[in-house]
Amino acid sequence: MIVLSVESSCDETSVSLIRDGKEILSNVVLSQIDIHKEYGGVVPEIASREHIKGITYVFEEAISKADIEVKDINLVAVTKGPGLIGSLLIGVNAAKAFAYLNNIDIIGVHHIAGHIYANQISEDLVFPLVCLVVSGGHTELILMKEHYDFNKLGETSDDAVGEAYDKVARTIGLGYPGGPIVDKLAFLGKANYKMPDLKNIPGYGFSFSGIKSHVINLVHNAEQRKEEINKEDLCASFQNAVTDVLVYKSKKAIKEYGAKMFMIAGGVAANKGLRAKIKDEITDVKIVVPEFKYCTDNAAMIGVAGYYQYLKYKQKDDMKLNGSSRLNLE
Ligand code: KG4
Ligand code: ZN
Repeated sequence: MIVLSVESSCDETSVSLIRDGKEILSNVVLSQIDIHKEYGGVVPEIASREHIKGITYVFEEAISKADIEVKDINLVAVTKGPGLIGSLLIGVNAAKAFAYLNNIDIIGVHHIAGHIYANQISEDLVFPLVCLVVSGGHTELILMKEHYDFNKLGETSDDAVGEAYDKVARTIGLGYPGGPIVDKLAFLGKANYKMPDLKNIPGYGFSFSGIKSHVINLVHNAEQRKEEINKEDLCASFQNAVTDVLVYKSKKAIKEYGAKMFMIAGGVAANKGLRAKIKDEITDVKIVVPEFKYCTDNAAMIGVAGYYQYLKYKQKDDMKLNGSSRLNLE
């Protein structure tokens, strides 16, 4: 079964072709990072316009790289949400046009299901499993008892981890997207700045707005006193506190639900500090991390998720399929 998938929920325009939910025949990703960098974050209106410019190219390039013919495609899978509505609509409408013209079934896929299924590219999922989803818009612990069954154990009540990373990076003048730069600097410093305790939120909830404000205040106070901030140490302290709570709650969930597998998903899954801490501290269960290229937004993960969604529910969408900026995973 060959799936053509489309992702355009934020600032990456991507089309991929996947055979049998596993073999990635092509995965073309056009990133808009260089354009949004200038503004210190994604500008939704510009993102939509850039998707329009790139969408036809990524379709053509992905099909040509996969070395297949359009008549070989059995299913079109497209991110229907959550995300920036203008961006989503470009991908959804392009996917609908393509499916309609070529008489192929179409399904809408949840963006976070895609991030979770990026792991299936490296390893077959084993259930029950716990997945820590950490991206620019989400921070949550998900329990899966079987394929395409998502139970949210808890989530952030304010900022997502990626958002906090980007804000901290901006405060200390590191550029956008800040996550990877903070990650890099963290390895050059020592965690000797005091950070708030993030573990006192009950259950599987998280909160990152407090630590974000703490870093902002620390930097502003230092500026007023004309004191130098050690950026490497500050990044190391922030990263240490954040990864501590992520791993602490993940371990708790693995134990409580008797998970046989633990995975991470989303852009922050690329974080080297988080990966190292997981490897050190989670020793009693199989760990899966997505390949770096499948951590941030891409269509391959949507195609794999779409394949499993279609297999399980045998349901397709029709030409009424639409994008939604908010969408429940469960
Ligand atoms: O999943 P993603 O590509 O987009 C969303 O669906 O949100 O995640 C993007 C987020 C950004 O906030 C970015 O700073 C963060 O992932 N990120 C990282 C790293 N690489 C990307 N955060 C921390 N460490 C990294 N190495
Ligand atoms: Zn994403």
